[in-house]
Amino acid sequence: MKRLILAVLFVSCMGRAALAQPSSIVGSPHDLSAGGPGPIRAVIENQVCIFCHTPHNASPIRPLWNRYMPVDNYLIYTSRALDAQPGQPTGSSKMCLSCHDGTIALGVVFSRQDPILMAGGVTIMPNGPSNLGTDLADDHPISFRYDSALAAQDTHLLDPDLLPPELRLDFNSELQCTTCHDAHDDSRGNFLTMENFDSQLCMACHQISTTTITDHTSCNACHQPHSSPSGPYLLRGMTVSETCLSCHDGNTQGAANIAGDLNKLSIHETYSQVDPPDPQYTHTSCTSCHDPHTMDPGTASAPFVHPNFGDIDGINASGSQVAIASYEYEVCFKCHGDQQAVPPTVQRLIPDNNARLQFSPGAISYHPVEAPGKNSDVPSLRPGWTTSSYVLCSDCHSSNSGTNGGGTGPNGVHGSDYSPLFVANYETADYTSESAFAYALCYRCHDRNSILGDESFSEHKKHIQKEDASCSACHTGHGIPSGQGTLTGNSHLINFDTSIVFPDPDTGRLEFRDTGRFRGECYLECHGEKHSPEDYKP
Ligand code: HEC
Ligand code: HEC
Ligand code: HEC
Ligand code: HEC
Ligand code: HEC
Ligand code: HEC
Ligand code: HEC
Ligand code: HEC
Ligand code: HEC
Ligand code: HEC
Ligand code: HEC
Repeated sequence: MKRLILAVLFVSCMGRAALAQPSSIVGSPHDLSAGGPGPIRAVIENQVCIFCHTPHNASPIRPLWNRYMPVDNYLIYTSRALDAQPGQPTGSSKMCLSCHDGTIALGVVFSRQDPILMAGGVTIMPNGPSNLGTDLADDHPISFRYDSALAAQDTHLLDPDLLPPELRLDFNSELQCTTCHDAHDDSRGNFLTMENFDSQLCMACHQISTTTITDHTSCNACHQPHSSPSGPYLLRGMTVSETCLSCHDGNTQGAANIAGDLNKLSIHETYSQVDPPDPQYTHTSCTSCHDPHTMDPGTASAPFVHPNFGDIDGINASGSQVAIASYEYEVCFKCHGDQQAVPPTVQRLIPDNNARLQFSPGAISYHPVEAPGKNSDVPSLRPGWTTSSYVLCSDCHSSNSGTNGGGTGPNGVHGSDYSPLFVANYETADYTSESAFAYALCYRCHDRNSILGDESFSEHKKHIQKEDASCSACHTGHGIPSGQGTLTGNSHLINFDTSIVFPDPDTGRLEFRDTGRFRGECYLECHGEKHSPEDYKP
């Protein structure tokens, strides 16, 4: 019955003049007749429908299809996050591809023995955006079942039963080219079935929440549905970072210049693949710390996660995965906790590189990242810091030119002139002359005059200024995990650098002993001085 109606329709629509409907194909890029608007048109053929349909000698494919179908030789879209399982193109998508994959001459139709002659010697679809090629791995996935079961797997997908009527699925609930495009209707441009200037089309299926960062609200800011340079995730750049840095490069009005920080000495190197294989902790991209769809501007106080991280996943203080991190450190623990992305930069008596255990509230002593500090008597703390303060990883590890580092650039653990990614300079080498600059990192929070005034350790000035010992010779920056250190041996972040501090030759001991408030003793040898032991008191 439908076939009959179609045949009648075609018979009555053969000439250009008689084409009442579907009307908007005439004069559109799909009007390939000699009178068509574009460079791709016939020399003399004046029928419009004939390039795709014929009432006579049609192929067995509905709707009176007049073209040979391409062979199944396509590369198919895939990514690690994809739940759908697209196969070789089916249904109406193959009809589109009979021109848009660039393998079959546009003028070759069933109903004519000789190909329709095209102007300018055009045969197949010329190279350019309209020629998708046979590599569909860089195009929006098609020809897969989009059903409620799929929507149930991916909470960000609308149940297809609720789709707006403009978006039609093909037989068998398959998403096809024709879900987003209507070959006959160019009234919205690009033959789209729905407007997409505000990403309405994309958001009709993808329930991706809108961010309040204005320049991120369009899906097109980061994605393109066809011929995407990245392939997986259909990004506008080859990789995630390239996509983000196309704006965050210092050349885009209003977008923070992150690229500048990535040229520095110590960086989170951006990964060269878009869809990295496991293990994921050995490399980073912007989306290691920022969830691209849920980032928001705004601030939060330590220890809470930055709003501009969005709903990013993490590893919590007890080592379990969390889908949405609540604290900044949970994001860092994905790679600097049980998974150790980098080796220790300083060789210490108690070697440990697991930041999760170093900062654990159960640790012997620690900087207050996960929990408030253990010591209620820290005289050196500068105004703004107290013994109940929390510190963020990014209070110590951040761009040195960001506003936190005293500059005017963007903040963040992107890159720094000071290694390992310190917000301010910190010398860990032995025989360093003390200065405000040498230990600038510590002096951000610990008053230099208090430390050199020996307000806690009565021998601070002697060691730091006379002996040119770095804070790092005695103190670790993080903490000492329980079970690895002892309460008397590793209080006050004491964990010696064993390339500087050696066992005492007389007793064989290399040890600090906490003997009370501002009191203690050491067994060791350093700068040729034996401590067998040496003690200190206020
Ligand atoms: C550039 C190719 C192309 C041209 C030119 C073209 N069509 Fe189509 N037409 C299609 C495709 C592809 C389908 C199948 C759509 C689907 O399955 O959703 C189709 C389907 C149809 C249908 C069936 C509609 C339906 O929902 O099943 C009718 C009727 C139709 N075309 C009429 C015409 C008429 C009349 C012309 C000339 C004015 C024309 N078409 C020109 C590609 C074309
Ligand atoms: C008979 C060959 C043919 C078929 C079949 C065909 N197209 Fe096209 N299409 C063209 C040509 C030729 C152009 C113009 C390309 C150009 O100017 O670069 C075009 C242009 C387009 C454009 C770009 C429009 C613009 O404004 O630039 C879209 C989108 C498109 N086609 C989608 C489809 C879809 C979807 C189908 C299947 C439903 C389809 N086409 C079937 C030949 C075809
Ligand atoms: C999920 C929706 C969706 C699907 C499925 C889809 N397209 Fe598109 N397509 C778009 C959008 C949106 C645009 C406009 C691109 C833009 O705004 O940059 C577009 C643009 C195009 C263009 C113009 C060239 C370009 O890259 O801008 C062609 C040709 C095209 N599509 C063909 C196809 C063909 C053929 C298929 C099936 C193999 C298909 N599309 C499947 C959404 C889709
Ligand atoms: C008709 C519904 C529909 C529309 C419209 C649509 N998509 Fe999709 N899209 C889907 C479905 C369904 C999937 C498969 C999701 C899955 O399996 O995880 C998908 C997959 C994707 C993927 C790959 C996801 C992955 O896990 O690798 C991207 C990226 C994407 N769409 C972006 C877009 C963009 C951008 C637009 C607008 C141009 C758009 N989509 C429009 C339904 C749609
Ligand atoms: C600021 C850039 C940006 C914007 C804006 C953006 N995306 Fe994405 N999107 C990405 C990146 C980057 C990825 C890859 C994520 C990864 O590395 O894991 C992605 C992944 C996806 C995926 C696949 C993974 C998933 O989460 O299911 C889909 C689907 C998707 N985006 C759709 C959209 C849609 C629809 C919009 C508009 C509402 C949009 N995106 C807006 C950057 C963006
Ligand atoms: C189309 C250009 C563009 C692209 C692409 C883009 N951004 Fe942005 N982004 C901006 C602009 C403009 C702002 C607002 C000004 C600012 O804070 O930098 C912004 C804001 C941000 C902010 C919030 C800053 C704050 O705290 O207020 C973050 C974080 C961010 N972008 C990260 C990313 C990431 C990650 C990507 C890639 C997944 C990305 N951006 C892609 C233009 C872009
Ligand atoms: C996805 C894994 C990953 C995440 C998440 C991550 N890092 Fe890293 N980090 C690395 C890798 C890998 C390196 C080594 C440099 C490189 O190749 O990027 C590194 C390097 C560093 C360095 C420099 C170390 C050195 O020896 O030069 C510091 C400091 C650092 N990260 C701190 C952080 C902080 C703070 C966070 C949380 C805000 C964090 N990282 C989140 C993987 C990660
Ligand atoms: C962002 C601020 C900040 C920076 C930078 C900082 N600290 Fe601290 N530090 C604190 C706070 C807050 C405490 C108090 C913790 C407590 O009450 O136990 C503290 C405590 C200490 C303690 C005493 C711990 C104890 O348990 O007795 C030592 C030792 C210490 N810091 C050394 C350093 C060194 C060395 C540096 C430089 C590498 C440094 N700090 C950098 C904030 C900071
Ligand atoms: C109070 C300052 C401070 C805070 C807070 C801090 N770090 Fe560090 N970090 C340091 C110092 C100092 C070093 C140099 C190594 C040392 O002292 O043993 C360092 C070294 C590193 C390194 C290089 C590898 C290594 O162990 O030497 C990484 C990676 C790192 N920190 C990650 C983190 C993460 C992740 C957090 C938060 C969970 C964090 N840091 C919090 C001061 C800090
Ligand atoms: C290791 C974690 C990590 C990675 C990887 C990372 N960032 Fe950030 N980013 C941060 C932190 C921490 C901040 C500071 C958050 C704050 O203070 O609000 C930040 C802040 C930002 C800001 C806001 C800066 C400002 O001061 O306005 C932008 C924009 C941004 N990041 C973009 C990017 C881009 C683009 C990439 C990839 C090239 C990237 N980030 C990779 C951790 C990261
Ligand atoms: C020779 C070893 C040694 C060196 C070098 C050293 N410290 Fe200490 N520091 C100690 C000892 C021991 C204590 C514990 C004092 C007590 O409470 O008994 C201490 C305590 C502290 C405290 C906690 C109490 C307070 O004063 O607020 C801070 C902070 C501190 N040191 C910072 C530093 C900084 C910053 C440097 C480098 C500029 C440094 N230390 C260099 C051994 C050292």
